[in-house]
Amino acid sequence: MNIAKKIEESRKYKPLYKGTIERIVDNAVTKYGEKNAEKEARNMLHQIWDAYYGIRPNLKKALTRLKGDLKEGKNEKEAIKKILALHSSTNERLEVLDRFYKDIFEITGVPNSIIDCACGLNPLTVFWMNLPKETIYQAFDIDEEEVSFLKKAFTVLKPIPVPKVQVGDVINKNEFPKADVALFLKTYPVLEMQEKGAGITAIEKQKCKYAVVSFPTKTISGKEKGMTDFYTKQFEIAAQSKKWEYKKLHFPTELVFVILWSG
Ligand SMILES: C[S@@+](CC[C@H](N)C(=O)[O-])C[C@H]1O[C@@H](n2cnc3c(N)ncnc32)[C@H](O)[C@@H]1O
Repeated sequence: MNIAKKIEESRKYKPLYKGTIERIVDNAVTKYGEKNAEKEARNMLHQIWDAYYGIRPNLKKALTRLKGDLKEGKNEKEAIKKILALHSSTNERLEVLDRFYKDIFEITGVPNSIIDCACGLNPLTVFWMNLPKETIYQAFDIDEEEVSFLKKAFTVLKPIPVPKVQVGDVINKNEFPKADVALFLKTYPVLEMQEKGAGITAIEKQKCKYAVVSFPTKTISGKEKGMTDFYTKQFEIAAQSKKWEYKKLHFPTELVFVILWSG
């Protein structure tokens, strides 16, 4: 059995998009040779995908709980927050969520179209975005199980607009739909980890007016370790090389750069 097939069929990596596994395995073979490729590919896949969940949650149970909470008349946003807390990226965003999109949209204007790249559970934050009902919100991620969960959650929650979530790999994808705002929330370092320059390339492939690129200010285990300075420098080097104009927003748990993009 080839390496990609073996990983695809393992229990842990079943929820992952096969195109991503194949790309990561190909890169690992080129970089480390056949002998070490499987170990290195598994390690990379863990870091870019699974590491953001302390323990992989049971999303079926999460859906049942959400339905129960809504049936009992519990506050919708409070019910959603419990789900957002399952993923480290959205969990860290919870404490700034009431200001997060307000401050970003003050720069971009309220968008009529959004594309949320490598979205994780973030499409559920549509409830904090205050978007006009005709807004087109498209999102994608390599986690097939998470995408399927979000689709089911939206049939219960019925947000307006309803984010259209699909399986897709930012690096493999060449065509992106036009959008006012492209979100790259805590995604740039994850793309750069996979292929050097992939973060910049992904941003440059967008047909958007603004690209919102954010970074965590703490490690997954909650340590600061100079992350803000490190990512500020990383972003500034990229912005300088590409002559991006941008504005910076510094939330306690997230560093955000809004690129005024005319690409
Ligand atoms: C740090 S999390 C950020 C999630 C979300 N953007 C947020 O901030 O709430 C990184 C996400 O990127 C996804 N991912 C990693 N590589 C990807 C790729 N090449 N294409 C699409 N999604 C990817 C992972 O599955 C994970 O959901």
